Amino acid sequence: MLRVMRTKGGHKWTLAEILTECKWEDQAIAAGAGHGLKNAGLVSSTETSSAIIRLADEGIKANENGLLEARIWKWMNHSDAPDMAGLQSEFERHEAGPGVGLLKRLGVQLEGGIFIASNPSGVTADIEARTAFIQSLPAATESLDVTLMDHFKSRRGLIESVISTSRTWKVTHQGRAVDIETLVEKQSISEITTELLQSDAWKDADYRPFDVTLESATPRTGRSHPMQALIERVRSIFLEMGFSELVDDYVQTAGWNMDALFIPQDHPAREMQDTFYLENPESIDLPEHLTDAWGAIHEHGGDTGSVGWGGKFSAETSKKGLLRTHTTVNTIQYLAENPKDACRVFSVGRVFRKEAIDRTHLPEFHQIEGIIMEEGANLQMLVTTLKTFYAKMGCPEVRVRPAYFPYTEPSLEIEVKWRGKWLELGGAGIFRPEVTEPLGISSPVLAWGMGLERLAMLVLGLDDIRQLYISDLEWLRNQPIL
Ligand code: PHE
Repeated sequence: MLRVMRTKGGHKWTLAEILTECKWEDQAIAAGAGHGLKNAGLVSSTETSSAIIRLADEGIKANENGLLEARIWKWMNHSDAPDMAGLQSEFERHEAGPGVGLLKRLGVQLEGGIFIASNPSGVTADIEARTAFIQSLPAATESLDVTLMDHFKSRRGLIESVISTSRTWKVTHQGRAVDIETLVEKQSISEITTELLQSDAWKDADYRPFDVTLESATPRTGRSHPMQALIERVRSIFLEMGFSELVDDYVQTAGWNMDALFIPQDHPAREMQDTFYLENPESIDLPEHLTDAWGAIHEHGGDTGSVGWGGKFSAETSKKGLLRTHTTVNTIQYLAENPKDACRVFSVGRVFRKEAIDRTHLPEFHQIEGIIMEEGANLQMLVTTLKTFYAKMGCPEVRVRPAYFPYTEPSLEIEVKWRGKWLELGGAGIFRPEVTEPLGISSPVLAWGMGLERLAMLVLGLDDIRQLYISDLEWLRNQPIL
């Protein structure tokens, strides 16, 4: 292109000339070449875009055969008694109908069955103006008569508006300094094809560089909900750390959800206003040996050496059906079924609490639960495991603080540093003998339960937990891929 532009100094090149000279079929290639020369500093270019009105399909036909109103008007002036029957025999149905409408608006009326114009010269003038308009296209929007443009815009398929870009290139000093004789024609490759790879040509080919900083359209494809993506991430981390996954039901008994965990039967968290008790099933049967064992522990500590909570234990209370308030209800049952085998188990599951909905609370949320049972398991191992997990999640700063849960001793609160602040993400501890002994467990059990939504808020930078579940498509599309 530079060769072309330089060979006739002072000559103004039209795009058509450049295309012919360079043997290019496509304007886009010329535009691309111009862009390349500009990037190389060899030409400067100016670009202006404007809105152009041009003929659409129907308009092209009208330009060749005449506008419908022009043809009907001509027919009217050549017939002695132009009537509806005549119009219908002369023009096709799809033209006769709209044609009558067009003429009516030009002031042509049916009088005594005959088409009559009250002001024939006015009709002729209007039709000529319309014809001239059509013939003047394509033209820049600003140069066109607004009334006529609006008129044609209201008619289907006659005109259309497009944006036209005009570019002017000028060879720069630097471009002029290039010795034409030294120019060699080289193909640079912008797309790698199978053919190219199969031939040897790719080895010596010249590749067109890409500007990766340019803005581009974001492809909108299907993707996981950020919560699902986060769950998958949590899963893969625990699986990687040698844990097995546990999946269990939402519907549980108060016995497993609370009594097995040595939560006293008069604990405030058990009240109706905190827990969703079920009407159906209102009560779920439990084996007597369990309720008896829990009863002994709760009333006087059983054989554990604990003094228990005292008071009277109710097996009926144990049997109450509820929606699990924590996933510890599932790990404890896993332990009850496998009291002797060392294990590492985790679960990510939904739990339910009667919470008023606000910025940081939902009545349904997820917990990341886990246990490690093995001989010699200790607090240090628990802390290290949690630190490792959060580090893999991208939160390297973790600390633990003393806390209280009825079922663990010691009990910990896990906190993660986020934007300079410590945020509480969950609880952990080592199960108490009141929990493990009735189940026949002899090795220490490290346990934790952490909020998933809390973590999601950190990872996704949210300050309102509800954002996760309101299905705001724009927000969902713009979430980072975890
Ligand atoms: N179940 C506790 C909660 O819901 C967390 C926890 C799990 C604490 C296991 C200690 C051990 O907050």
